[in-house]
Amino acid sequence: MSENRGPIGSDGLVDEMPEARAELDMFMDGLEITDDANKNRGFMIPSLRKAQDLFGYLAESVQLYVANKLKLHLADVYGVVSFYSYFTVVPQGKYKISVCAGTACHVRGSAVVFSKLFEKLALEDGEETTEDMLFTLEKVSCVGACGLAPVLLINEDVHGQVTPEAAIALVNDILKKENANA
Ligand code: FES
Repeated sequence: MSENRGPIGSDGLVDEMPEARAELDMFMDGLEITDDANKNRGFMIPSLRKAQDLFGYLAESVQLYVANKLKLHLADVYGVVSFYSYFTVVPQGKYKISVCAGTACHVRGSAVVFSKLFEKLALEDGEETTEDMLFTLEKVSCVGACGLAPVLLINEDVHGQVTPEAAIALVNDILKKENANA
């Protein structure tokens, strides 16, 4: 996990975002953390979820920060982070578009929705995030809204019965909004 880099956790994200760190501190101070590392394991997932919400992704410095607070090893935290696909260790776009690739959505054309979005966002093979860090595009497994298939999420917002045209329109709306705010 740490090729071409300095010491563990030296990415600096925790220090670059003091407000996020303070909010994470506040959240974790509310947990019943003890000196018994084993008992603290149960706090890993909620703490990491909160950390990811606040920092945008789980850089190594963030994982180390959480590990230290829970008196765990970085390897314990990394094991959890790498197990759950919900967690990400790379920066994400401001808008995360998650196209459901579950069976119901697939049958109703989610693959076409995905490929049209991929084209629209001018992503290259293997890329998930646009260069301007505005969008991240990913496929996810069933999000539990099969009756609305095909489904995509933009951050937390669920959009159902999405045609390729409707998906492109959603992106265009975001671009318009972002340009208006620029
Ligand atoms: S398969 Fe897409 S929501 Fe269930």
